[in-house]
Amino acid sequence: MRCEWLVLSFLLIGCGAKTIDEQPCNDTALTYASFGESFMSTHCQTCHGAVGPDRRGAPLAYDFGTVELVRGYKDRIYVRAASVNTTMPPGPDDPSEEEREQLAEWLACDAP
Ligand code: HEC
Repeated sequence: MRCEWLVLSFLLIGCGAKTIDEQPCNDTALTYASFGESFMSTHCQTCHGAVGPDRRGAPLAYDFGTVELVRGYKDRIYVRAASVNTTMPPGPDDPSEEEREQLAEWLACDAP
């Protein structure tokens, strides 16, 4: 039993996360105004907003309050929250699968 768990953890660490390099930009109709701003403010900025008293442990450097900041962190945002990646937000109010696919599409095109 313990051995199976080790194998499973290894697979999750080795193959679990999809990266932004694996997602080509096939043009996108999504923009910061139509999608990114509301996605980030609904799902991320409660903890990753402007420095405030209740970041609930989110690192100070990871502030997603402007489109420039989001672009600067796009590879990390992708690997934590886009497409099949679900380690952010920590829950319980997760974005839908459709929203995670939209985030992936938008980030892959450099968050226009
Ligand atoms: C409830 C608070 C909370 C919310 C909401 C939240 N985070 Fe986080 N975030 C954290 C905490 C705590 C850490 C530090 C621990 C860790 O890295 O898991 C963190 C760390 C991070 C990091 C830095 C570590 C790394 O992997 O580079 C990124 C990037 C990140 N979060 C992305 C996001 C994104 C994208 C969203 C929205 C989809 C989000 N977070 C929503 C609390 C939150």
